[in-house]
Amino acid sequence: MTSDLRQRHKFARIAVPAAVLLLVGGAVTVQSSAPAAAAETTLRAAAAKAGLFFGVAASPNRLYSIVGQEFNQLTPENDMKPDRIATSSGGLQNTSGADTLVNHAQSNNMLVRGHTLVWHSQAGALQGASQATLNTFIGNAINRWGSRIAYWDVVNEALEDNNTGRRRNQWPHTMNRDANGDGDYFDAGDTDVIRDSFIRAKQVVQAGGLTTKLCINDYDVEGLTVQGGTPNRKADALYDIVRNYRQYIDCVGFQAHFNDNPNSIITDDLQANIQRFADLGVEVHITELDIDDDLSNNDIGTGQAENYRKVVRACLNVAQCTGITVWGISDSESWRSSERGLLFTGGNGSYQKKSAYHAVLDELNKGRNSTPPPSTPPVTPSVSPSTPPVNPTTPPPTTPPPTTPNPTTGCSATVSLNSWTGGFVATVRVTAAAAPISGWSVQLTLPSGATVTNTWNANRTGSSGTVQFSNVSYNGSVSAGQSTEFGFQGVGTATGLTPVCTAA
Ligand code: XIL
Repeated sequence: MTSDLRQRHKFARIAVPAAVLLLVGGAVTVQSSAPAAAAETTLRAAAAKAGLFFGVAASPNRLYSIVGQEFNQLTPENDMKPDRIATSSGGLQNTSGADTLVNHAQSNNMLVRGHTLVWHSQAGALQGASQATLNTFIGNAINRWGSRIAYWDVVNEALEDNNTGRRRNQWPHTMNRDANGDGDYFDAGDTDVIRDSFIRAKQVVQAGGLTTKLCINDYDVEGLTVQGGTPNRKADALYDIVRNYRQYIDCVGFQAHFNDNPNSIITDDLQANIQRFADLGVEVHITELDIDDDLSNNDIGTGQAENYRKVVRACLNVAQCTGITVWGISDSESWRSSERGLLFTGGNGSYQKKSAYHAVLDELNKGRNSTPPPSTPPVTPSVSPSTPPVNPTTPPPTTPPPTTPNPTTGCSATVSLNSWTGGFVATVRVTAAAAPISGWSVQLTLPSGATVTNTWNANRTGSSGTVQFSNVSYNGSVSAGQSTEFGFQGVGTATGLTPVCTAA
């Protein structure tokens, strides 16, 4: 792109300063019949009110006050990668930077996303390691921080570039074997680094009774399509992976490094893609958001602020999209500084808010489902029904210990919580006893001050005090000993929940 183009684009942005945008917002509010709730003035407060986290990638040398003021989630930008903390035998070393970040997050009431355990890049001493060594590292890293890490990126960037829909042809994925030659790695006899790494991670989480959720993270997977309306085969491949390994995978990260690459643009079907993953029962996160301030090559929006607004809105409109993380604080300190893709200018602790910041804050303040979703037809996945994966050597325990007696008929339920100041996400696992069930309901009593703001994979009666959840059409039937999950989000604090399950 020419510098001339950049200049013109900059002018377009400066011509609509934040103050004017806010004034326009104010005029709309005056016309509405109900008095508007006071707008929150930080990203974290506005996000918490809407029931999601708003995070930032951080480094120990940049823990300025803005980190805890504006954000309630933190991802170590580099300090938890294998090249920092892994030894060649899967042990840990040099964890002081990571420790500093986890401590900072904890003292500022921020969630932590661990980033990342299995990755072809920045592998350091683990480069070329066997699955057994990767498993050792996975255990050591998860156990070091335990439930202080709310989400771990277990596998990062497993899929190839250029919209092929294939796994990378690079270590660690070169360890994969397609035993029956059917073109996938999902069969019992296949070897799959993704499956085996998640199985190991799940075992560690369950053995330690941790609340940590396990995520798969990738880029160019954000839309159902890429530029020109071509199906996004990389997103489809990720969808297949999550669907096949759903029992081990709790969450999906869309990196969302949006730029001029035809596969990296913001498409109008972003929300529909978030929704189809959500429909699998996983949480979805926007994990590494930055947006090139000049997307003139693909003209997907009217400027960076509007593009940020689109992405935030797409997440807000899907209940299971529970968090957004920007990949750094300011443009000049970003990994892609030439794209000026973040929410602040300035540096070294002195930052100025951009139009994009005000757009994000404004959109968060509108809350969930405040605007209709873009008109995209419902998605029918083009993939065939899956067979559950079988691991012949190391089957992980499938259910955590129930908190209610597990009779031979009926059901039991357990709850795991991820909390931040002023909010929480609860995941409830319903398990059928020794007989199949055809419907269920779960009753919970929330502590005073806690209110449910949204629910997925269940119907709900009530939002505070005693709240009743029941199955939706597609998850009422549970086979003997099997489980299904639903979730809800709320404001306030929700400790000590004791779910009571009743089978229909
Ligand atoms: C980047 C960091 O921001 C840089 O500082 C580092 O030099 C390279 O890695 N996808 C990821 C992140 O999952 O870990 C990458 O972070 C950006 C792309």
